[in-house]
Amino acid sequence: MHIIVLGSSAGGGFPQWNCNCPQCAGHRAGSRAIRPRTQSSIIACADPAGAWALMNASPDILEQIRHTPALHPRQGLRDSGIAGVILVDGQIDHSTGLYMLRESTRPLALHCTDPVFEDLTQGNPVLQVLSHYCGIDRKPVPLDGSTFEVAGVPGLTFQAVPLSSKAAPYSPHREHPVCGDNIGLVLTDQHSGKTVFYAPGLGAWDERVHAVLCQVHCVMVDGTFWTDREMLDLGLGTKTARDIGHLPQSGPGGMMEWLATIPATTRKVLIHINNTNPILDENSPQRAQLLAQGIEVAWDGMHIQL
Ligand code: MLT
Ligand code: MN
Ligand code: ZN
Repeated sequence: MHIIVLGSSAGGGFPQWNCNCPQCAGHRAGSRAIRPRTQSSIIACADPAGAWALMNASPDILEQIRHTPALHPRQGLRDSGIAGVILVDGQIDHSTGLYMLRESTRPLALHCTDPVFEDLTQGNPVLQVLSHYCGIDRKPVPLDGSTFEVAGVPGLTFQAVPLSSKAAPYSPHREHPVCGDNIGLVLTDQHSGKTVFYAPGLGAWDERVHAVLCQVHCVMVDGTFWTDREMLDLGLGTKTARDIGHLPQSGPGGMMEWLATIPATTRKVLIHINNTNPILDENSPQRAQLLAQGIEVAWDGMHIQL
């Protein structure tokens, strides 16, 4: 299985356009060792000679495609290495890129759950707007544990794991979660048997999530915030990480504690990292702490082969 990280950042990217936090400002001044990062998206396939599944369509997708030769047109006048799209939620950073794919010469194959489909046809009617362009070929994502495939991406199966996180702020169920607002995905290479769990929004770790993470070869999970109070402490927000559906890395019951409970041989990667998170700084003590625990920080262009 091949995975390429197109965008490793949370909503806003790094540096964020209007942010003067120490990290964004430090990056602009050239005084901090932090790579720029685009918004949250990965691609995967079992055979890189063929097409790829896109997980989440970021507002930065055009720049991401430009930097990813695997996705460039190969034959004919119009072509794409993207065979289909899977959404893990209806958040702005995961769905706005669908607009940028409107020139597609066939309806976009779009896999999403019923609540996300509802949000993207009502609260934020992206899919209705797109019916005036390429149109959408919508495929429901099952929530009962059954697997599904993306047509044109042979040898790879996907399984949704319903997660506790948050629907987008515009969603009628932002404060009244329903099953399917947020999912993680287990990707399985049918030939090699290798598995990856991808969840850029993971608000709570429970026994069910734990069981899944103990079984896979690689986890790519929510790296949004280092502390629960990160946005509050910086004076940038009024909500904790957990309030907006992201489990922070540090502190009691945080992501690092949980990742220490899954097998040491499992590759562990944090993804969907907010611009305020000190783990972005390659020289920070927080980054050193992660490294000491064998946890990697995703970057744009990171290629994972299993
Ligand atoms: C989130 O996951 O909470 C987001 O990154 C929000 C956003 O897209 O603005
Ligand atoms: Mn997000
Ligand atoms: Zn910032």
